[in-house]
Amino acid sequence: MGKVALITGVTGQDGAYLSEYLLKLGYVVHGIKRRSSLFNTERIDHLYEDPHVENRNFILHYGDMTDSLNLTRIIQEVQPDEIYNLAAMSHVKVSFDTPEYAANADGLGTLRILEAVRLLGLTEKTRIYQASTSELYGWVREIPQTEKTPFYPRSPYAVAKLYGYWIVVNYREAYGMHASNGILFNHESPLRGETFVTRKITRSVSKIALGQEKCLYLGNMSAKRDWGHAKDYVRAMHAILQQEKPDDYVIATGVTTSVRDFVRMAFSEVGITLQFEGCGIEEKAVLQSIDESLFIETVGSEYLPSIQLRLGDAVVAVDSRYFRPTEVDLLVGDASKARNVLGWEPEYDLAMMVKEMVNADIKLMKRDAFLQAGGYKTLKYFE
Ligand code: NAP
Ligand code: GDD
Repeated sequence: MGKVALITGVTGQDGAYLSEYLLKLGYVVHGIKRRSSLFNTERIDHLYEDPHVENRNFILHYGDMTDSLNLTRIIQEVQPDEIYNLAAMSHVKVSFDTPEYAANADGLGTLRILEAVRLLGLTEKTRIYQASTSELYGWVREIPQTEKTPFYPRSPYAVAKLYGYWIVVNYREAYGMHASNGILFNHESPLRGETFVTRKITRSVSKIALGQEKCLYLGNMSAKRDWGHAKDYVRAMHAILQQEKPDDYVIATGVTTSVRDFVRMAFSEVGITLQFEGCGIEEKAVLQSIDESLFIETVGSEYLPSIQLRLGDAVVAVDSRYFRPTEVDLLVGDASKARNVLGWEPEYDLAMMVKEMVNADIKLMKRDAFLQAGGYKTLKYFE
């Protein structure tokens, strides 16, 4: 019999990659998804199994991190060997608009899982992974950040996650639970939510290259992040729960890059070189040159752009609405402990990931254009 895992946040970026990974390892995977008025399972539709199929390996349950009764019932029914608590209101900027909800879902939600496991008498059986975050370091106290670096959260999201982090440590110490924190630095992929900065950039680069959009508006382009690939990071989550002893681990690449440089890299994937001018709210990037053969190789030559690209056009500008009341300026992690104890190493570097994300978005934008046009005028967009 394979192990049984329960994933909260199964419909998110990490939930999708982790489900795939665990299924390949022979797990039976249960996932908790929220009820929504539209389908919200696009990232895991390829894993879906009809409820009438016998001996399913992938089973979804309706649930919500703000509902203790429901979480307790699901855990009782599933009797999981491993719980991966990935569900969260995960957008830092949005958490300033919905601070109480972020505290409830991300902070108290973690407590609900731990307490359900304890009250159901599953302390010995069930191991728990908590999706902690490099946002805990916030206004960083040292560079790079390790498991020992003090926390200084800078958003309602990060403060809620701080509670999650410490309640996991407390339940581990108080009740001997196998509960661990993965302090994961930013990780991205073609499945990344569209409003996080990397995906926002790769989508816009694709639209601008295809002549569907004129300009990408961003907030603080000087912020620096340690960006890895979600596929690499879900391997670390699993490895953490396979250790004999529960513990907390930083998962990071050790390389930090500014948002501005990420923009440069994404545009250069389609052969476009940018020149940045001005600073602060006045900063913009203009189109300096286009490598035509690379452009055609990545974007194709068959499309019918409604906006023509011209040298000197501003294709990136700043919009203050994307600034945060308090910002996290720089994150860079030291994952030595994960390397030494878990044997974890990332397979992707940033350049590989940017390439994958831009190419995936070009494909997606071509498909969307085809569908929006009823598959008629822009037939050539579709591959
Ligand atoms: P994501 O794509 O935003 O996915 C979040 C998941 O949580 C979605 O499935 C979402 O459901 C679900 N969710 C949100 N509120 C919920 C609620 N009240 N009840 C039940 N489910 C709820 O996030 P991700 O990038 O996969 O990240 C996974 C986890 O790791 C999150 O806890 C995040 O805070 C943390 N983390 C992420 C990163 C990163 O860089 N990606 C780094 C460190 C830590 P819907 O699909 O219905 O919205
Ligand atoms: N989203 C967004 N949109 N961010 C922008 C923009 C913009 O238009 N312009 C600049 N940024 C800057 C933000 O101010 C921030 O400094 C940086 O880009 C990264 O923003 P996000 O991609 O939204 O990610 P995050 O670092 O705030 O949070 C993500 O990573 C955390 C781990 O460190 C999320 O996935 C969190 O859930 C996660 O915990």
